[in-house]
Amino acid sequence: MTTDQNNGVVSLKIRAGFGIITIDNPPVNAGSTAVRTGILEALADVSSQDVQGVVIVGAGRTFIAGSDIREFGAPLAPPELPQVIAAIEDCPHPVCAAIHGAALGGGFELALGCDLRVATPDAVLGLPEVTLGMVPGAGGSQRLPRLVGIDTAISLVCSGRRVPASEAKTLGMIDTLADTTSEDALVSAGIAAIQAAPVKRKLRDLPVPPADPQAVKTAEAAALRRGKGRPNVSEAIRLVKLSETLPAQEAIAQERGVFQNLRVSEDAFALRHLFFAERAATRIDGIDAPPNTIKRVGLVGGGTMGQGICRAVLAAGLPVTLIERDPDSRDRTALAMQQAMDGAVSKGRITAQVAQHRMDLLTVSDQIQDLADCDLVLEAVFEDMAIKKDLFRSLDAILKPGAILASNTSYLDIDDMASVTSRPGNVVGLHFFSPADVMKLLEVVRTSSSSQSSLATALWFAKFLNKQAVVSRVAEGFIGNRIYSAYRRQAEFLVEDGAKPEEVDKAATEFGFAMGPFAVGDMSGLDIGWNMRKRQAATRNPDTRYVDIPDWLCEAGRFGRKTKGGYYDYINGKAQPSAITAKIIADARAAKGITPRKISPKAIQDRLIGAILNEAALVLKEGIAQRPSDIDVTLVHGYGFPRWTGGPLWWASGQTQHSIADMSDGLAVAAGTGHVSGDIEDMIAPLREARQNIDKRKLGHA
Ligand code: NAI
Repeated sequence: MTTDQNNGVVSLKIRAGFGIITIDNPPVNAGSTAVRTGILEALADVSSQDVQGVVIVGAGRTFIAGSDIREFGAPLAPPELPQVIAAIEDCPHPVCAAIHGAALGGGFELALGCDLRVATPDAVLGLPEVTLGMVPGAGGSQRLPRLVGIDTAISLVCSGRRVPASEAKTLGMIDTLADTTSEDALVSAGIAAIQAAPVKRKLRDLPVPPADPQAVKTAEAAALRRGKGRPNVSEAIRLVKLSETLPAQEAIAQERGVFQNLRVSEDAFALRHLFFAERAATRIDGIDAPPNTIKRVGLVGGGTMGQGICRAVLAAGLPVTLIERDPDSRDRTALAMQQAMDGAVSKGRITAQVAQHRMDLLTVSDQIQDLADCDLVLEAVFEDMAIKKDLFRSLDAILKPGAILASNTSYLDIDDMASVTSRPGNVVGLHFFSPADVMKLLEVVRTSSSSQSSLATALWFAKFLNKQAVVSRVAEGFIGNRIYSAYRRQAEFLVEDGAKPEEVDKAATEFGFAMGPFAVGDMSGLDIGWNMRKRQAATRNPDTRYVDIPDWLCEAGRFGRKTKGGYYDYINGKAQPSAITAKIIADARAAKGITPRKISPKAIQDRLIGAILNEAALVLKEGIAQRPSDIDVTLVHGYGFPRWTGGPLWWASGQTQHSIADMSDGLAVAAGTGHVSGDIEDMIAPLREARQNIDKRKLGHA
């Protein structure tokens, strides 16, 4: 490349005696093969020129937001990133990374290869490789500790946290905060930084600051805990600590070897599958309408969910009008919102100023007319169709034309609710999970008449709240609760067949679930399901297997944690196996003439996961979910399915056909029907094909 030329994605210009290398690979300047080639050529060109320094900058909205993740599944095409970074270090001129937007992964590693880093206040920097099942692969684990120390480097590398520029400055990850928003001014800041320190300063040659052994131990323990024993996390820790003992050159070579192995590991493929699945889930094929503008949100019902959703919307910065049904409930809700904000301040999660700002955005009222100026109104009142329909009728009369009417119902038919309004096209479901300000998943429910713009608005809203949207059709339990119910029922079958609740929970957590199904049931309250089963008793199909144990527990007043007894006894808040529960289980088995048998942990896991897969196949066949990968996203984000497996369907696509067939047989026996309803093998066929293509690419055959 010669001066003032470019290879389509990278250009070199000379400005006032400085070389300016601009990366322009929209949308996020991902560090693809073309980008790496372009930077290398630009460096070769500028190295032979008489300039005072070089500034590397990203065009558009960001620096290099990361490496091109699609390239990680195949042999990497040269030039590889370490070669580009070596060329930056070998460049005779000082090189400054001028960062705005994001400098993540390979993008931040490239910046660490530079002699200087300046960043705008809106920039974020970090090494998220660990969250994709890998470790940094281009010196990040060796250069970062030289700037921030071993303990901080361990926690940054192992969490993949995006560090805001101001904190990055405090930690030493950047040299200068450039208070500007224009690319031009950012380049000038880069030039000024070089003029102030016109020397080469290779990070790899710097000493690692002396570490406090206790701080390192604490960081290590926290990282291992959060990392759930995944092998890449312990590798990342080991590599960061190598920076203390091994010459940088050798440690960087070791890091590269580990990275090359891990990037084609099972975990890495699974996590990349999820990475793309998460993005696909937020799209509805064939819908491309622009979202409506949302300036004010209305919420009706300030109970558990209404308050959580309210906190989430306020945190995102939109004004909220929250309606409760009478003055007492209104005052109680207003007080609870204030207490939650105060609690967040006292725990150090937000500052008093932020809390005040959020409370200023909130109006709590008992007058539904106060919602007249809202652009989107979401109801979270009692789960009762008559109440919800009444409310929808009133809201329809009050709201301005075009305003969106949404329901947070868990199980009720939103088409039915829409039918009482004059605007069924503007009705959608927004099914949050509890606690709504913490849980990432948000099911966006599409009724038979939801308009394109309502759906586009609902998806925009999900993104604005930083939620993971998954689109579901109207169905009992939508995608997530429907599949989870099948899993929970299977757990009950297992207990009735002979397993102890604690054995089922242990098998689930050993598979990787955050909690077992019975611990979850006790935590959420067994009475919720009991009330629902009582409502549905008259319409239940008598031919399906029904386990009485949860009803009998509730009849004995055992609702879970809140009554200090459910499947477990709770002594000083700690769950213990319960003799009372064991007796109820034994009675339930005896009543049906079931002789309990020992069930192995593997057989328990097969039946639990099999139940998820079987129900998922039905959910897909019925068109409730759009695509198989949406189910993986739902289970991982809403139900504690282990992320590193890629979700249940991705996990299943890695099992042999024989073992999937065995799982199906086991389910059929458990269901007492002799057959299972969903065709698991058919469902995972596209994922099996994706895996086969991966295997070919790994070997460089495609
Ligand atoms: P909740 O009982 O805690 O809160 C309901 C609130 O709505 C109460 O504060 C009540 O005073 C208020 N309310 C009732 N009728 C009203 C009306 N006409 N106008 C104004 N306010 C009214 O119930 P929760 O748990 O918050 O559930 C609300 C909705 O969210 C239900 O549809 C539920 O199925 C759904 N949901 C619940 C989840 C959970 O984990 N609790 C999860 C996802 C959805």
